[in-house]
Amino acid sequence: MANKNDNQFEQVLAAAKSAYDNAYAPYSNFQVGAAALTFGDNIVSGCNVENASYGLTVCAERNCLAQAIVNGEQQFKTMVIFTKMAKLTPPCGACRQVIAEFLQPDASVFACNHLGDKVEWQVKTLLPDAFTPKNLNDD
Ligand code: THU
Repeated sequence: MANKNDNQFEQVLAAAKSAYDNAYAPYSNFQVGAAALTFGDNIVSGCNVENASYGLTVCAERNCLAQAIVNGEQQFKTMVIFTKMAKLTPPCGACRQVIAEFLQPDASVFACNHLGDKVEWQVKTLLPDAFTPKNLNDD
């Protein structure tokens, strides 16, 4: 029988897939969906949103976390990134910085694809020695 964590993972993955379907990526044609599980076991999601000015593109991971903040969620247990790439998609550098702001260093970030492949990282391996809110004071 599947345990609670397996079920939750599948639900977060399903949310990332659903967000993927809504990605606005007419310039790169590279759709990305992301979803995160909050400490309160709510699931939030986001997709990449591109722009004709290109540089204003926002990645799925950052949109996911921003969407969560709007809804009053600021702490997350895990994040799942979904693409339809055989080569699993890691978060970009900007997203790693934002992930490090809101997920604990030992939290897991997964990349999954349509083939059922999955890779897991920890936040601290994605961005070692991250600059975080703790660095804003000397306490
Ligand atoms: N993209 C993401 O959404 N997340 C990442 O971590 C990597 C890149 C998006 C941005 C752009 O819309 C497209 O993928 C190609 O770079």
